[in-house]
Amino acid sequence: MAEKIKYMWWKNNIVYQIYPRSFQDSAETEFPNDGVGDIPGIISRLDKIKELGAGIIWLSPVYKSPDADNGYDISDYYSINPKFRTMADMEMLFCEANKRGIKIIMDLVINHTSDEHFWFQESRNPENPYRDFYIWQPGKTDKRGRRKPPNNWTGFFMGDTWEYDEKSGEYYLHLFDKKQPDLNYKNPKVIEEVKNILRFWLDKGASGFRCDVINIIYKTSLEDGRKSLSVQGLEHYKSQEGNHAVLRELRRDVLDKYDCFTVGETVFVDLEDARLLCGESRKELDMLFFFDHLEVDRVIARFIPKRFYACKLLEKMTKWQQGLDWNAVYLENHDQTRIVSHFGAAEKDRASDGKPGILWQRSAKMLALFQLTLRGTLFIYQGQEIGMTNFDFNSIDELDDVESHGLNKLMKKFLIPAFLRWKWIKASSRDNARTPMQWDDGDNAGFSKGKPWLGVNRNYKYINRALQKKILIPF
Ligand code: NOJ
Repeated sequence: MAEKIKYMWWKNNIVYQIYPRSFQDSAETEFPNDGVGDIPGIISRLDKIKELGAGIIWLSPVYKSPDADNGYDISDYYSINPKFRTMADMEMLFCEANKRGIKIIMDLVINHTSDEHFWFQESRNPENPYRDFYIWQPGKTDKRGRRKPPNNWTGFFMGDTWEYDEKSGEYYLHLFDKKQPDLNYKNPKVIEEVKNILRFWLDKGASGFRCDVINIIYKTSLEDGRKSLSVQGLEHYKSQEGNHAVLRELRRDVLDKYDCFTVGETVFVDLEDARLLCGESRKELDMLFFFDHLEVDRVIARFIPKRFYACKLLEKMTKWQQGLDWNAVYLENHDQTRIVSHFGAAEKDRASDGKPGILWQRSAKMLALFQLTLRGTLFIYQGQEIGMTNFDFNSIDELDDVESHGLNKLMKKFLIPAFLRWKWIKASSRDNARTPMQWDDGDNAGFSKGKPWLGVNRNYKYINRALQKKILIPF
């Protein structure tokens, strides 16, 4: 019998990414106008998303979390962060989106949990069955007999990767912040728990998942890593065979039973890895995000700038467009600076009050055209559709981003002068993309009636959705 051909609706729809805390703060909640976006706020803006032509929303994490990394540190996968409201509101969001023909994919953060998650709290006791949910190791001792971490790995947030826990007498692994302990995927019980999480959200109405750092979840060995200026230790956990096996298992036991898709965020991925992770016959992911194109003008991940050559960008995009059957096509997300500031010339002819010049508009249109002509599923990040720019932060105190603070600390250690530190942090901070959505020229750009959790870009009187609906300046 001929196999039923599945209609892959995710290939035919645009995805709009929402970073909930910066999208819309609603007045009608338990914490009215608290300056943090929330789920009722999203519901109130669904028609605007529909108007854009998006058929899918990717919702950055809304789960319970102490917010050490803005929700990418989950303390309970089955409940909603009270800042964003309640599970009933979340159900309402699924329902209202559905009425408008919009599907929702959730952010699946399963490389690590929060250290406040019940599993981790239990695992701090070496006798507890949850011990093996995380990666605990005794330390080593140096020549002088002092305690030192189990290996030389370095982390994604520029800090240590091992934290000593007095209570346990051992170290635990955290590739990100110390409040984000890594799960142990050699333990089948962890995989079973993840399956339950997937089922829970699919049954609630989710149509898939964006999978956070999904190609580094399986740590094959804990040996020392090769010396590297970038993330050291990667060869022991990037795109390992064990990682592929976990993805196939999740797909076989859960995802394939639902009409859903997955897009993986994959770090340091090359074409060869990518083909294994999302080749159709492999049955792992449906598509993935790579970073090559956004790093053509940066060294050491995205922190230190180098000269931009358009031909380099073309070369990278051509490689991925030709190398994969289907791409996740994106230029922005909550971890990247605004594209109109990054590849465009948004700041070149800006007035002192923030009023953008003609180069801003031309850059934004050119980049939109570029993105929209590429093959793959398009991902648009909130605010990208109106050409939001990087924020003109004045000092590190205005920044919330845990990564920027980590980078600052590390550079201080290497005695990098303050002016250079600030220059690089300002140009790379993830907070550039996290400032509140600019809806109109009212208070706080229409985002909130209270003081926003992160500064509103000073150019909101000139760059906002309401204004762009009114006038289309022909350039
Ligand atoms: C990638 C996410 O996009 C980022 O925001 C987060 O900090 C890290 N993964 C850790 O979860």
